[in-house]
Amino acid sequence: MTETSPLDKATTQRLVVLAADLAREAGDMVRRGRPRDVVVAATKSSPIDVVTAMDLASEALIRARIAAVRPDDGILGEEQGLLPGSSGITWVIDPIDGTVNYLYGIPAYAVSVAAVTGPPRPDAWTVVAGCVHSVADGRVWTAGLGKGARCDGSPVQVNDPVPLAQSLLGTGFGYTADRRRGQARVVAALLPQVRDIRRIGSAALDLCTLASGGLDLYYERGLQPWDLAAASLVAQEAGALVLGLRGVPADEAMTVAGPELTVRALVALLEDLDADRDEPADPTV
Ligand code: IPD
Ligand code: CA
Repeated sequence: MTETSPLDKATTQRLVVLAADLAREAGDMVRRGRPRDVVVAATKSSPIDVVTAMDLASEALIRARIAAVRPDDGILGEEQGLLPGSSGITWVIDPIDGTVNYLYGIPAYAVSVAAVTGPPRPDAWTVVAGCVHSVADGRVWTAGLGKGARCDGSPVQVNDPVPLAQSLLGTGFGYTADRRRGQARVVAALLPQVRDIRRIGSAALDLCTLASGGLDLYYERGLQPWDLAAASLVAQEAGALVLGLRGVPADEAMTVAGPELTVRALVALLEDLDADRDEPADPTV
């Protein structure tokens, strides 16, 4: 457990309960409504960065519920952007994290709901409450700032640090070729130095798996606020240090999470590798 919340205990707890209710309700819809053949409704940063009708429906449901019970709060969602509020609290939501898994029927996708104070950006916000609901198997991770992290109601804790050579790392890849070229170079350099690497396909589930001891470390370049908000609080409240490179907070440039000792070692390695740099195609090739 870390800082104390800028909100009183009762308010923080109410936000945790609401985050969990919203994630469960949207998760039920996502699970029950999954057609045999999921189709792509739109694409975003590249032709493989897909949106399904269920991403849109899940976000619409969560937005409608928040508007009904907390009409003064802002909402930032992956599919519909920012609706500013006046209460100082913004909900940051990923209606389906792991959309490609959802598309292919791989059971690793989640609904992620967080409440933050301050500007809804990773370098400026304080995440006060969060819930990540793993839709296919029903697991629910919750966290409140200063109140610890739980999975299905039981406290969770990250693993004790082990040397990098014995650490199981989670990571993920972006959707553009320039980013992936850089990420491939970094993975190639890390793989011989660690126990192994997992690519689960949902950043929120990566961070929650880390929180529950199913990974020793996690790093990824390219996370968006909705990938990070709820799950970073779960990881942090489970004892992880969640950092960026070069002294800045975790954000799109880089997120590294795990027990302090090994996070610092991995950060140093990633900085040496310039892992926060994309790699444009060589025009001469
Ligand atoms: C993606 C997943 C994936 C991660 C990508 C994210 P989406 O989110 O979290 O694991 O590697 O960086 O964009 O597109 O499924 O919501
Ligand atoms: Ca996402």
